[in-house]
Amino acid sequence: MNSVVNIIYHMYDQDLKRYVGDYDKFTEVFEMQKSQQEAAYRRQQQEIADLKDFVARNKARVSTRNMAMSRQKKLDKMDLIEKPTEKPKPTFNFLQGGLSGKMIFETKDLVIGYDEPLSQPINIMMERGQKIVIEGANGIGKTTLLKSIMGLIPGISGKAELGDSLELGYFEQEMTGDGDNTCLEEIWQEFPGYSQYEVRSALSKCGLTTKHIESKVRVLSGGEQAKVRLCKLINRKSNILILDEPTNHLDVDAKDELKRALKEYKGSILMVCHEPDFYDGLATDVIDLSEYTTRL
Ligand SMILES: Nc1ncnc2c1ncn2[C@@H]1O[C@H](COP(=O)(O)OP(=O)(O)OP(=O)(O)O)[C@@H](O)[C@H]1O
Ligand SMILES: [Mg+2]
Repeated sequence: MNSVVNIIYHMYDQDLKRYVGDYDKFTEVFEMQKSQQEAAYRRQQQEIADLKDFVARNKARVSTRNMAMSRQKKLDKMDLIEKPTEKPKPTFNFLQGGLSGKMIFETKDLVIGYDEPLSQPINIMMERGQKIVIEGANGIGKTTLLKSIMGLIPGISGKAELGDSLELGYFEQEMTGDGDNTCLEEIWQEFPGYSQYEVRSALSKCGLTTKHIESKVRVLSGGEQAKVRLCKLINRKSNILILDEPTNHLDVDAKDELKRALKEYKGSILMVCHEPDFYDGLATDVIDLSEYTTRL
């Protein structure tokens, strides 16, 4: 794998830097530039402290005031070097599966719920190419509806039928499991055929830093965990995505990129989402589940 020439784009603060070479080379160059910027930042901070100190000690005395003023001018004119932080921008390109059947799913008088019905009978259907958004208040049954459609839980009555040749990618609302794996292990488990290089590069493309990649999933933030789960989703072929509030913990960059990728996606999408800004220009249909609720 080391001989493979790869181009990895990595956002490092505001500068887009281009790295040509294999992953080790990429890491090496990235780390080197990072430590150079850190050194420059530290040097400048020290210089600022020295100048301020000089000004404070000398501005009051007539004999040294001019020197103090010129140091102050230097301070005022200084271009500040920002403290380096790692802010890699994600790219989410979904692997496209084969063509699904025309019908994706159809519900026939489906009543969802656990002990009590959460909904009136629901009759909806989805065809290939649709990008449907489901909205509705918290606790109304959106997640339950997705699970009932997929057949993961039974409905109270009625039925949900899935179409043919579906390659389904499911993004759950919350992380499952104890998160005791590192991100590396988590992706390796999902794609055992990947080399270490491929696992690291897949995670890095989703906006995770080397530090995150080697950490246990459990200790990551909600947004970082979502990126690990998206990493699994995008790298497995699908022709229907079922997404349960995928933007919940994502930062602005990740949201923008996810929207771009979902607009480009050629398969069908069924997504729970509360954010019109996110689904405008992406959804072909919006279903308000409150219209079916028993809880009004
Ligand atoms: N396994 C379960 N057993 C019993 N009741 C459940 C179960 N899971 C969810 N519920 C209840 O069913 C109702 C609907 O839950 P669901 O998670 O589908 O709502 P939701 O619309 O997805 O909410 P949110 O917007 O918060 O994600 C809630 O009142 C919830 O407490
Ligand atoms: Mg939910």
